[in-house]
Amino acid sequence: MALADKDRIFTNLYGFQPWNLSAARMRGDWDNTKDLIARGRDAIIQEMKDSGLRGRGGAGFPTGMKWSFMPKESKDGRPSFLVINADESEPGSCKDREIIRHDPHKLIEGALVAGFAMGARAAYIYIRGEYIREAETLFAAVAEAYDAGLLGKNAAGSGYDFDVFVHRGAGAYICGEETAMIESIEGKKGQPRLKPPFPAGAGLYGCPTTVNNVESIAVAPTILRRGASWFASFGRENNRGTKLFQISGHVDKPCVVEEEMSIPFRELIERHCGGIRGGWDNLLAVIPGGSSVPLVPAEQIMDAPMDFDGLRALGSGLGTAAVIVMDKSTDIVRAISRLSYFYKHESCGQCTPCREGTGWMWRVMERLRTGDAEVEEIDMLFNVTKQVEGHTICALGDAAAWPIQGLIRHFRPEIERRIASRADVREAAE
Ligand code: NAI
Ligand code: SF4
Repeated sequence: MALADKDRIFTNLYGFQPWNLSAARMRGDWDNTKDLIARGRDAIIQEMKDSGLRGRGGAGFPTGMKWSFMPKESKDGRPSFLVINADESEPGSCKDREIIRHDPHKLIEGALVAGFAMGARAAYIYIRGEYIREAETLFAAVAEAYDAGLLGKNAAGSGYDFDVFVHRGAGAYICGEETAMIESIEGKKGQPRLKPPFPAGAGLYGCPTTVNNVESIAVAPTILRRGASWFASFGRENNRGTKLFQISGHVDKPCVVEEEMSIPFRELIERHCGGIRGGWDNLLAVIPGGSSVPLVPAEQIMDAPMDFDGLRALGSGLGTAAVIVMDKSTDIVRAISRLSYFYKHESCGQCTPCREGTGWMWRVMERLRTGDAEVEEIDMLFNVTKQVEGHTICALGDAAAWPIQGLIRHFRPEIERRIASRADVREAAE
């Protein structure tokens, strides 16, 4: 069943109405926020747990549980912080951009409610450097909220003091990793920290910190207003709620759309994108969750539920729900090689398997692309991806390994064909 208009959280996703405070209020934002806060920290966190919301930034960690890791009382006088990850840089992802462009007050109100629930003194919204216009909108929306008494001392009349700071990134993909982001806000080079300790124990300035994605925070006030059971009525067990999908590539109408979690792939594309370019027979493969998850071949994805478990069962993942559709005109080896270059370029260089491995994997991928390789190198490359995966400080190593694994798993005959035809050319030349 597709999502009805009345059940959409993001009612201004396409910017048909202004983003500003008075328009946001007409859409129901900032409606008696102090009553939400008056429910108390434990009640808010319980409601979020009951809703089944899982983090929307890619990893899918249960949001209410994450908030519950924050200390109830300040220890040693240390404040707690909320960091909102708006460093949306995963290739294919563009949903947080739409929220900030057209519905920034959902995010700011969410920051207050979430910040209160976890006992945070302030929220830092870390927005990617390339989002210039979006940062301008966000700065203006935060200023509006201060002017209206919704932030600052006695925020929204709740009796709670809460500040929101907007911090602009400078263009490094790795700063989207939560601990690299914390380093960057502290004014240091954006490099991931070893975990544990997780940020909830020692995060920003060594204080308890929760890092949440923009979408996870922006949906919180609506969940609290409409109730956990309403949100949990969408999707299926362990995969609850509504979700922003970002569909790009070879569909007739690429778009960002809010849909019910677990919607089958074919229905998502038919309903919102006008189908596959050239028809369904022309579909080659799909990367369903942003570039960090393995591709899924056409025949496997057609009826797959678009959620965490459904895509994991196919050896892939929901990730950020950035659905990259590739038809049969795609040079699939070249596409994955290009992603390998991206990860090589974005590696922070801190750990050896990633620093050396991403460059090595890209160079072999390029030779597989042109066919200038030996067949045995396919298995060797696969083995190297297994040496990188799980042996690095942060998930970038895994993200570099998985797309290559997906390619070899599903398109080995195509790689072998290239090597064979190149060998024929070489033989003819000798
Ligand atoms: P993760 O699974 O390591 O952590 C997820 C969250 O849960 C983190 O906030 C972590 O602090 C928390 N957590 C996990 N175990 C915990 C524990 N035992 N105690 C306390 N907290 C705990 O995943 P990570 O590295 O944060 O994210 C990886 C994902 O990010 C990838 O799956 C990818 O899809 C996505 N991604 C998204 C991007 C975007 O632009 N939105 C960019 C790049 C990657
Ligand atoms: Fe840096 Fe890569 Fe290591 Fe992550 S895995 S810390 S990006 S070198």
